[in-house]
Amino acid sequence: MEVAGLHMEGRAVLAPMAGVADSTFRIMARSHGAALVFTELISSDGLVRQNPKTLEMLHFFPEERPVGIQIFGRDPRDMGEAAVIAARALPDLIDLNFGCPARKVVKKGAGAAVLKDLSTMEKIIRSVVSAVDVPVFVKIRSGWDAEHIVAEEAALISQEAGASAVTVHARTRSMAFKGHADWGIIGKVKSAVTIPVIGNGDVFFVEDAGRMLKETGCDMVMIGRGAYGRPWLFRMIHDFLETGAVTEEPAFDERIAVCLDHYRLALRILHPNRAVREMRKHIGWYLRGMPESHRIKQTVFSMDDSSEVMRILEDYARYLKKRREDSGPMTESFTM
Ligand SMILES: Cc1cc2nc3c(=O)[nH]c(=O)nc-3n(C[C@H](O)[C@H](O)[C@H](O)COP(=O)(O)O)c2cc1C
Repeated sequence: MEVAGLHMEGRAVLAPMAGVADSTFRIMARSHGAALVFTELISSDGLVRQNPKTLEMLHFFPEERPVGIQIFGRDPRDMGEAAVIAARALPDLIDLNFGCPARKVVKKGAGAAVLKDLSTMEKIIRSVVSAVDVPVFVKIRSGWDAEHIVAEEAALISQEAGASAVTVHARTRSMAFKGHADWGIIGKVKSAVTIPVIGNGDVFFVEDAGRMLKETGCDMVMIGRGAYGRPWLFRMIHDFLETGAVTEEPAFDERIAVCLDHYRLALRILHPNRAVREMRKHIGWYLRGMPESHRIKQTVFSMDDSSEVMRILEDYARYLKKRREDSGPMTESFTM
């Protein structure tokens, strides 16, 4: 897939996710076949004010490429200035967030609130497009609420203002993350614009990705929560689109092997205490549905020593592998 000179392998991209899709998770997703990844949303105010914590969020590793830096805000001039600051980190693209439903963001007129004021949205896009040399992507929701579905209009304005691609999260702001995404709006946006459309919302399985691409005609699919503890989903989608066959999810012990790779990567990238804390939620996701996992999670979530956590996970993986390979009922349970 090629967008504005940017080459991407495959058609499944990792969603920007604050508090989840940090560099560690982005590298995991990329190494398991994600075509593109995005940073968590970054405040234009923080960038313009040179807030050190905000500036730190611009950092990414070469292994993440292609990577988009996502910024949010409501003031066209500040957004232009913020984009210039972000562009100094040399991302492959800048993504503009017009979808965040969080109260503290929309209360300031940013995120999804921009969908209520499409002339400001146009000014923001024009300001950013003229300020940077990299492609500018736009991420929108269907609209503010069911009475104000504006995605088609917003996408057309984005295209007109110079955006290179538009991502549509097929939910309104008032739905936040509840209810079902209504993919019909993605199809409507695709028919309305000529720039590539990335469809988003409720892709959890390979078949969902295939169905979204087919039903809506969108060019790529973006996956958020479906990738929790399952970075291999991107490769599975890639393989499905190449061959038409749905490969199986990895076995439990193989999943833990990926979780351990993730853990080691976190320990290389983050301060050890931070890595241990951040990895708890990921371990919870990797272990979903596994026998006796509740007990294991309880134990490792209370541990602060990464080598102890990894040892338990390694033992658990060995136990699950044996359980998988031995035919017949398994009588012994896992002992830590
Ligand atoms: C924990 C979490 C954090 C998110 N943070 C962001 C963000 O920083 N920027 C953004 O554009 N969307 C953000 N989103 C929305 C996702 O990018 C995506 O649009 C949404 O989750 C729908 O996709 P899904 O059904 O595949 O999860 C976030 C979603 C979640 C669950």
